[in-house]
Amino acid sequence: MITCKGKSEILKMERAARIVHEVLAECIAACRAGATTEDIDRVAAAGIASRGGKAAFPGYRGYPKTICISVNDEVVHGIPSPKRVLKAGDVAGLDLGVIVEGYYADAARTIALEPVPAPVRELIETTHAALLAGIGAVTVGGRIGDVGAAVEAVAKGRRYGVVREFVGHGIGTALHEEPQVPNYGPGGKREIIREGMALAIEPMFNLGAAAVATDADGWTVRTKDGRVSAHFEHTVVATARGPVVLGFGRFTAGSAQTGAPGFHEYPLPVAV
Ligand code: MF3
Ligand code: CO
Repeated sequence: MITCKGKSEILKMERAARIVHEVLAECIAACRAGATTEDIDRVAAAGIASRGGKAAFPGYRGYPKTICISVNDEVVHGIPSPKRVLKAGDVAGLDLGVIVEGYYADAARTIALEPVPAPVRELIETTHAALLAGIGAVTVGGRIGDVGAAVEAVAKGRRYGVVREFVGHGIGTALHEEPQVPNYGPGGKREIIREGMALAIEPMFNLGAAAVATDADGWTVRTKDGRVSAHFEHTVVATARGPVVLGFGRFTAGSAQTGAPGFHEYPLPVAV
């Protein structure tokens, strides 16, 4: 069953998303050569707690940490570790979920530590562009397949590998709700998008082939060919006035059911 959220529910998700994005920004600021991914996890946990949120990932299917940090050939679900020291040139995907009053938000960004080769920068920027393209396809009356088709079209132009084993998802009172939101088409298929649907859209693009495998830790997903991967995610609500990206502070008043003011601007995607 796919639930459509009303205004009070979306406002809770907006509060959760605001925390996600503020804390992601703090985590990204802490991503410096010499920092460990465990250090970043502590920044995440402290940032969520100080804002009165609850971390969504700890204990989720036994996940042991607050944030996922996926470095270089790691695609998603990298587990922070005191042994994982960030170094110059590393690419890091940071993925964070927060709960406020029982409502979830989930977002991810990928950054890179200088020096960043042009192809890596382009991969990161293009994955972000694909997220925005997918968000742009969140149209009431459209189909979930339209979102995937929009994402995939952005990758096709550059021959990136589009990860198929992991998909976006509905979100609300659970981290993962129906429907699944693949990063590929065809358009015109899958569920109809209705007002109040909340979707976590999360393209994962690889510089090489699409194939991925999961490590023996049961979590870390990495590219089979060892090439770098990028991941961006937003929690988005479908409204009659278009998609709304949660977490950017302009979600207060507006249309009948969801109160959506429209499309939010996204801060710059890339490398710090
Ligand atoms: N944002 C990811 C997702 O949507 C992370 C969840 S895995 C977790 O699937 F275990 F860390 F929660
Ligand atoms: Co997600």
